[in-house]
Amino acid sequence: MTDLILTEKHNRILTVRINRTDRKNALTHAMYTSLGDALEQAQADADIRCVLFTGSADCFTAGNDLSDFAQGLPGAFQDTPVGRFLLLLANTTKPVVAAVNGPAVGIGTTMLLHCDMVFAGQNARFQMPFANLGLCPEGGSSLLLPSWLGRVRAAELLMLGDAFTADDAYRLGLISRICDSVQTEAEALETCKRLAAQAPAAIRATKELLSRSTHDDLRSAMLAEGELFAERLKSPEAAEAIKAFMEKRKPDFSAFK
Ligand code: COA
Repeated sequence: MTDLILTEKHNRILTVRINRTDRKNALTHAMYTSLGDALEQAQADADIRCVLFTGSADCFTAGNDLSDFAQGLPGAFQDTPVGRFLLLLANTTKPVVAAVNGPAVGIGTTMLLHCDMVFAGQNARFQMPFANLGLCPEGGSSLLLPSWLGRVRAAELLMLGDAFTADDAYRLGLISRICDSVQTEAEALETCKRLAAQAPAAIRATKELLSRSTHDDLRSAMLAEGELFAERLKSPEAAEAIKAFMEKRKPDFSAFK
């Protein structure tokens, strides 16, 4: 386990903290491996009844590390560290809670679609800028967002890729509660304690039923997204967008067909 992902088991809750503050908690392959390992640990340990994902006081995660993106995806999506993490997250039977402050970009937003409850500080900023980076949706977002929000709202979030506030996310039904930013993690933890005190088999049954309508389609949606995403990563559009980020300028897509 890298020290960029910290885990702590306490009171039957596994807290998983993204801890790469100098890079806005951007996620590398090694960090996804640790996130996946944490979920496997939680699944295997009957003494863990709830998982809490959190970041730092002012940042959840800036999403995938853009330098890693430039290298492409190592292998078929389900075998990559990010694919393994997302599939484990979508399939875990334990309740998962997230405490989000500051930016939650890319997978920082799409991973929340698989959490059972999401607590966001007033300073939270969500964004799925996949198209802006010459990429395409991931993490099951192309299936879940249209079915939850309707096609046109999903298209706006995924095609324009603008950042949106905690108020917007609450209005859209993507988060459970808006918190004073200094209280986000404490409020999420209180709820984790309540979940951990519930009857575990009843919580598992509830979670299974809540996921039932999308469960069968989710894996195939994630694999299809992953395949297209890997292709998009090799595209000149993505190369231009990633180069532009490194050069701290806006991408220029004007010459692409
Ligand atoms: N990958 C790699 N490095 C990243 C990163 C990422 N996803 N996000 C931020 N960083 C780095 C920045 O390059 C910067 O490095 P520098 O200090 O060497 O210049 C450092 O982290 C701080 O980021 P900065 O952009 O200065 O912070 P900010 O508070 O102004 O903005 C964000 C924060 C998250 C809004 C902004 O960094 C951002 O948009 N990041 C890219 C998000 C993204 O596109 N992710 C992929 C989604 S699919």
